[in-house]
Amino acid sequence: MSELVPEIAQLRQLLDAHRQAGKTIGLVPTMGALHAGHRRLMEVARAENDVVVATIFINPTQFDRQDDLERYPKTLEQDMALCRDAGVDLVFAPSAAEMYPQPQLAWVDVPELTKYLCGAGRPGHFRGVATVVTKLLLIAQPGRAYFGEKDAQQLAVIRRMARDLNIPVNIVGVPTVREADGLAISSRNRLLNDYERLQARTLSQALFTARDEILAGERSVKKIQSAVAYFFDGVRLEYFSIVDTETLTPVERIEGSVLIAGAIWLGTTRLIDNVTVSVAGNSLEPDQ
Ligand code: PAJ
Repeated sequence: MSELVPEIAQLRQLLDAHRQAGKTIGLVPTMGALHAGHRRLMEVARAENDVVVATIFINPTQFDRQDDLERYPKTLEQDMALCRDAGVDLVFAPSAAEMYPQPQLAWVDVPELTKYLCGAGRPGHFRGVATVVTKLLLIAQPGRAYFGEKDAQQLAVIRRMARDLNIPVNIVGVPTVREADGLAISSRNRLLNDYERLQARTLSQALFTARDEILAGERSVKKIQSAVAYFFDGVRLEYFSIVDTETLTPVERIEGSVLIAGAIWLGTTRLIDNVTVSVAGNSLEPDQ
């Protein structure tokens, strides 16, 4: 049975007792509307920790559009059932007033990593994410915290923030869980109508095609981008970029490890996805 904990003081008290008993704690931050992707994070956490804490908090400071915040799906009852099935011990689900009792004046920001990809189109978004995740890490003080590779830029920001601020936590990345047709599972998928749901798969198809081009030896980002452009006919493309996996800055030629990431709009719903590819050397270099 998962226990619902709405207050910070109560969560601290429960977790202090577990820590004193020598138990390891795994944290899985979410915004609810839980699905198979979240569930995978919880299962990995379950396998690696004595106590698993999931958090459900629709964090207002990371929404750059009021309408997106307002229509974000809220399904606490089903979420509790999923947490229970996944073996979560505690579900921390605070109110906005509990997390932000007064206007937030102190922020955590990693601007160097948020200039491109989603950061370019969503000003303030990653500052809100980094700040709320810092708050959650300080409240729960887990040994490990779990995040999906589905949100690759978010994962990179959180890893860097934890390292730069000496937060004593192991950030664990979990591979993206997909539908049968390749669409990355997301809470926002349930906002799509039937036609949009069909169009949605073009994003992962474009990403997989780009990856295949690279694996087949293509090294020019321009050529890769034109090879996948047809996938986005009739779809509003926000970006389709290839960046260095460490710095998240765009590259022109593929070398080492790259992140291929895209964002599309279907009606008023925005979907993101990514894949990573590593190449050993440059194909244009002569064989040794
Ligand atoms: P949310 O979108 O609810 O996602 C919670 C976690 O689940 C994130 O780490 C996300 O990357 C992961 N996730 C979502 N879909 C996934 C999928 N298909 N496969 C694997 N993992 C997936 O991301 C957030 O909430 C918020 O920004 C948060 C980190 C909780 C801060 O408010």
